[in-house]
Amino acid sequence: MGLRTVECTSPDALFTAVYRELFAPSFPPEELESEAALARALHAGSASLFAVVDEAGGPVAAAFGEWSAAARVQLLTYLAVGPAARGGGIGGRLLREAVRSWAARRDPCLVLAEIEDPDAPADEAHGDPRRRLAFYEAAGAKVLDVPYFQPGIGGPGARVHGMLLLVLHAAPQLTRGEAVDGGALRTFLEEYLEEAEGTIARDEETAALFAALDRPGGVPMGHWRPGS
Ligand SMILES: CC(C)(COP(=O)(O)OP(=O)(O)OC[C@H]1O[C@@H](n2cnc3c(N)ncnc32)[C@H](O)[C@@H]1OP(=O)(O)O)[C@@H](O)C(=O)NCCC(=O)NCCS
Repeated sequence: MGLRTVECTSPDALFTAVYRELFAPSFPPEELESEAALARALHAGSASLFAVVDEAGGPVAAAFGEWSAAARVQLLTYLAVGPAARGGGIGGRLLREAVRSWAARRDPCLVLAEIEDPDAPADEAHGDPRRRLAFYEAAGAKVLDVPYFQPGIGGPGARVHGMLLLVLHAAPQLTRGEAVDGGALRTFLEEYLEEAEGTIARDEETAALFAALDRPGGVPMGHWRPGS
């Protein structure tokens, strides 16, 4: 099929096509930042975008990530393969390529991803959460043992509940055996909450999340188990 992976370093025509043709149809609106916000992050250099394109240069799959220098955390924000190309191994290859590039470029760092918890009520229109988790676990992802929610774009009322936070890469400097440095995760989440919600709200859900990050010995990571 003549596919190749390219990196998009500015909000150009390829970025626009990726956003409109791949991301917008693949994610529920509450999980997807605006096109302008992603364009700004790309322009500022804090975000990066890898796209798999066909012979005509059209996007077939894309991985968008945002970097927190303070926390040394790279978040895989969005990964999508066009519906016609799913199930052919393109997503798995792009995921591994993007994680490898970010880890090499940023190390020591953590590469994280957020996905829906298969135990939570599913939004079937946007894919099967259990198959999606299996896809990430096949690429080596581990699930962090925290009561995670996706910060609300615009405020705490817009939070996405029933999410898992995954580790796709963890540098030895940021791990202790099968646990991840809670300080790096705290810095990352404080920054994320402030950026998305405008503040760090003092509610029970946020307190429970931070308590899980502050455990002595770090935050355990492992395979997902139903009901865990
Ligand atoms: C999840 C996704 C990126 C996988 O890419 P892909 O190229 O189809 O995946 P691969 O061919 O490399 O691997 C196949 C595996 O992906 C997963 N997968 C494929 N289609 C899927 C779908 N519609 N929903 C959930 N998972 C899916 C399954 O685990 C599948 O293995 P299986 O067929 O044995 O169940 C792609 O299906 C997609 O874009 N889904 C919609 C957006 C999304 O869920 N993004 C991830 C959250 S950030």
